[in-house]
Amino acid sequence: MKIAVIGANGMLGTDFCDFLRGKEIELIKWDLPEMDITNVDKTINTIKKEKPNIIFHFAAYTDVDTAENDKAKAYAINTQGTWTLALAAKESKSKLLYMSTDYVFDGKKGIDYLESDKPNPINYYGLTKLLGEKAIIQHSKKYFIIRTSWLYGRNGKNFVSTIINIAKEKDTLEIVSDQIGSPTYTKDLCRHLYNIANSEHFGIYHLTNSGKCSWYELAGAIIKEAGLKNKILPITSDKINRAAKRPSYSALENFNYKTIFKQSLRPWQEALKDYLKELNLIQ
Ligand SMILES: NC(=O)c1ccc[n+]([C@@H]2O[C@H](COP(=O)([O-])OP(=O)(O)OC[C@H]3O[C@@H](n4cnc5c(N)ncnc54)[C@H](OP(=O)(O)O)[C@@H]3O)[C@@H](O)[C@H]2O)c1
Repeated sequence: MKIAVIGANGMLGTDFCDFLRGKEIELIKWDLPEMDITNVDKTINTIKKEKPNIIFHFAAYTDVDTAENDKAKAYAINTQGTWTLALAAKESKSKLLYMSTDYVFDGKKGIDYLESDKPNPINYYGLTKLLGEKAIIQHSKKYFIIRTSWLYGRNGKNFVSTIINIAKEKDTLEIVSDQIGSPTYTKDLCRHLYNIANSEHFGIYHLTNSGKCSWYELAGAIIKEAGLKNKILPITSDKINRAAKRPSYSALENFNYKTIFKQSLRPWQEALKDYLKELNLIQ
């Protein structure tokens, strides 16, 4: 079986390629600069030549705040790039797994979002990712759309590592307490993404570590588990000046995965401990 990973050098892509090591597959790793999904002809020709059985599409413009002022680039990568991959996957008869986000929702529901809930993004990044979903649904039949949230892993910028770094410099940290979501460890996703992509159960999935918390609660857990003594103060989102709005509640109910595959991911608190171990911060 031939597997292509696009965005292979990113936070999730790196862990996923590590996860695939040792499996009896042919792995093609693609990322910038040799694979630029905004280059339509080259991307389609390359994929048609290789004809992977499964394409894992992890490439994205992921900076939520800069996307607000860099709209053309975010759209070109997240929407048009995904459109191109959907066409390429169709022509090469490949399955396509696309990572999407909890930020497709507006956060107003107040309880966990189901795959069947209506998206309504409130920031530009979320909009470009949702339009990517629509391109896939329109063009490819053999697709998996995986919405995840609040990712952290050792190969990318993320909240957990940021808190650890800030904690070295400041005694007191002010962290927003009015946004709720499900922190998710990239390493935990890998096995389940592979599981889904090897099936014929096409469609939309929510896939996150189980449980939910605010950023403030997550920061508290990081400080406590890492054995640090910093003080954490809760603040509201309007106290920090960020370009992009965030949904106030975007926890995702992993309904389809639990129902179809009879599996779920472990609680975020357990995953966090393993990440801190991976960083050699705890034993
Ligand atoms: N991080 C989160 O909290 C989060 C939450 C929900 C969903 N997701 C989704 O999960 C997926 C993986 O996220 P991640 O955090 O692992 O992202 P990431 O670390 O930013 O990785 C994305 C990769 O895509 C590459 N890329 C950017 N533009 C490209 C282009 N035009 N052609 C080919 N590759 C390109 C990036 O290269 P450069 O680094 O050189 O730009 C990077 O290697 C994304 O689809 C993201 O939207 C992430």
